[in-house]
Amino acid sequence: MKMPQEMQLIDNSLLDQVVILTGAAGGIGSAIARTFHRLGARMLLADYDEQSVSRLALSLDPTGEQVLSIAYDASKPSDADAVVAKCIDRFGHIDHVVPAAAIFEDQPFATMTDAQWRRTMSINLDGVFYICRRSIPHIRSGGTIVTIASSAAHEGCSPEHVHYGASKGGVLAFTKSLARELSPNIRVNNVSPGTIDTPMVAELLRRSGDKWLSIIPAGRFGTGEEVGDAVAFLCSNASSYVMGQTIHVNGGSYMGG
Ligand SMILES: NC(=O)c1ccc[n+]([C@@H]2O[C@H](COP(=O)([O-])OP(=O)(O)OC[C@H]3O[C@@H](n4cnc5c(N)ncnc54)[C@H](O)[C@@H]3O)[C@@H](O)[C@H]2O)c1
Repeated sequence: MKMPQEMQLIDNSLLDQVVILTGAAGGIGSAIARTFHRLGARMLLADYDEQSVSRLALSLDPTGEQVLSIAYDASKPSDADAVVAKCIDRFGHIDHVVPAAAIFEDQPFATMTDAQWRRTMSINLDGVFYICRRSIPHIRSGGTIVTIASSAAHEGCSPEHVHYGASKGGVLAFTKSLARELSPNIRVNNVSPGTIDTPMVAELLRRSGDKWLSIIPAGRFGTGEEVGDAVAFLCSNASSYVMGQTIHVNGGSYMGG
């Protein structure tokens, strides 16, 4: 029998694996969820948008046995506690954590308030700490954490997004530092997307899509599925010697290290 292409690429090492995915209702998160579901993983999908994440979980698994959802605010430590508790209650352990929840708000730096700065940092960076810290005691040996940073972490962000750029730079350094501490039992890696066509950047692309497109050698924006494939690779045994690294999924727009 011919296996689907992704099965050939990363074997069946995600079959029955238990995944916590945050930001699961988003453009990239939902694509990651669909990819992992195809690969046979069991998942707890967490998102602030309770209705959308519940709809997604039900559409993937109407029985609710393999795929569950939970309402979750990444900026609240108690919500991270609840996510981990629900995952352990249902599945007994964790294999992979993919903290993808984030916000991307426009705000010129000169008038950025402390509250605006804190809001972005609390969701995009603190939230990654909260969920990873609480998950780690339950992650089985051989498990992984795959963070989602951004090209912004490597080359700086678009104007009016200094808080976002700083939060993603933090996620990148977090990833490398944690990889040193947890390897080899838990591998920690990062995916840094370029411009991916999702609700997060819809307004930016409406305003200045042509400008962003002109710097992408691929000649198009990326899809959530293309990010999902990179995440699946980093969670699978096919990446067993990859630790503390970044996969750039950006159509060639950024080719630095
Ligand atoms: N789309 C891009 O071009 C792009 C580029 C680089 C990096 N990224 C990163 O990819 C990840 C996914 O982004 P996306 O494009 O799918 O965005 P999206 O806006 O489509 O999805 C983000 C999801 O996060 C959820 N969310 C927002 N605030 C939350 C909170 N406080 N608690 C829990 N969930 C919350 C939203 O409800 C949404 O479902 C993010 O980490 C983002 O920074 C995206």
